Amino acid sequence: MEETLTIIDNRTNLTYTLPIQQGTVRAMDLRQIKTGPDDFGLMTYDPAFMNTAACRSAITYLDGEKGILRYRGYPIEQLAEHCTFLEVAYLLLHGELPRLEELDCWNQEIMAHSCTHENVKKFMEGFHYDAHPMGILITTVAALSTFYTESHNIADPKIRRRQVVRLVGKMPTLAAYAYRHRLGLPYVSPDPDLGYVKNYMNMLWKRLEPKYVANPVLARALEVLFILHADHEQNCSTSTMRAVGSSNADPYVTCAAAIAALSGPLHGGANEEVLRMLDEIGEKSHIPAFIEQVKKGDRKLMGFGHRVYKNYDPRARIIKQVAEEVFEVTGRNPKIDIALELERIALSDDYFIKRKLYPNVDFYSGIIYQAMGFTPDQFTVLFGIPRTVGWLAQWQEMMMDPERKIARPRQVYVGEEKRDFLPATLREQTELVTA
Ligand code: CMC
Repeated sequence: MEETLTIIDNRTNLTYTLPIQQGTVRAMDLRQIKTGPDDFGLMTYDPAFMNTAACRSAITYLDGEKGILRYRGYPIEQLAEHCTFLEVAYLLLHGELPRLEELDCWNQEIMAHSCTHENVKKFMEGFHYDAHPMGILITTVAALSTFYTESHNIADPKIRRRQVVRLVGKMPTLAAYAYRHRLGLPYVSPDPDLGYVKNYMNMLWKRLEPKYVANPVLARALEVLFILHADHEQNCSTSTMRAVGSSNADPYVTCAAAIAALSGPLHGGANEEVLRMLDEIGEKSHIPAFIEQVKKGDRKLMGFGHRVYKNYDPRARIIKQVAEEVFEVTGRNPKIDIALELERIALSDDYFIKRKLYPNVDFYSGIIYQAMGFTPDQFTVLFGIPRTVGWLAQWQEMMMDPERKIARPRQVYVGEEKRDFLPATLREQTELVTA
């Protein structure tokens, strides 16, 4: 089979043959298609990147039609069942699962970087008591750039790697400080011996007891949730990471930009919105009226739908199981029953069937987080901690990509034609705009 595409330009009757590689044509190959020497050449128009591959990546494989997700070839289900989060982080960042001694070193290396400079605590204190933790996270991660000034040297692989380890190590600490800041509790320093997830739990929930002991079922649940959120190929925040990183900005400010993208309610912020929605629905009997509002287009069913998944999100399936395990310890969060009923009704309704709308990763995660004791404003932070690994893996991959260039899309200009300047006194007053 010949891997080419033949195009006839009906404006000129000229024929072009373009190579097809891995199911794509190069947009730049279209530029040769012109109506004359002054024509710029054909471009693609793809707002929101509905059908544009912006990079070649070997990290995460996603088949949205079949509901398949793999990190470096490994099915997400197997990783969630057998791995620790840091093992998966190693896999995403290095390409292979670590051998035992490599895993030991990696665990130690990451945990050695869990501490932050004392000044981080000082500027964290400047935040208002009800500052949203995502705002705190964006700011403090960006601020790390001023502590590690070597990080601007993004061309040096050793320096790059050091920042990766620092960021992965420090994210739970920053997140836990943001959590305790909100509650007015003193910050708890990291304890590297506890490991990544239990140390995070200790920094969150230790009070006056001499030793906080994390519940193993809850610790494992958090570990699995971290694994499921670690990467998801070219989503909005990862594309932000690549776009900002492509300008050679340092990884801290780049990561802060990715966290900002994640915070939006259509992306990672959806988990917080799901809880608010379930609160608002209140009880099962209100669901049909709510679904009617959604179908009328008055609102969205948060935690449903996905740009790529047109089938059940495999992460949501695992999270549903984890929820039951967590409820064995915490007691059942009554919102799960509203969520299950919402899912049942939605999946049998034509509106959702036609549009292939299924629960996504955010639909059930918040219910677990709430049962564990998190308030909804912390949920997206819980997405951001593990996703930092994915952002950094994608950033590292981009830095080594021989095709790397600054991200700079084109536009279709639809504004005024050329017109001449008039001084203010001569401009016609059409409408007086007041505040
Ligand atoms: N509730 C009701 N209708 C929906 C929903 C929803 N959650 N999602 C999509 N639709 C409808 C949409 O109105 C459109 O209908 P029509 O064809 O009649 O105009 C159709 O389904 C296609 O939707 P779209 O907006 O073109 O799809 P998209 O790929 O641009 O958006 C999405 C994807 C995730 C932003 C969207 O599904 C959504 O807003 N979902 C709710 C927010 C959410 O749960 N986000 C988390 C995403 S998963 C975690 C992550 O990666 O962040």
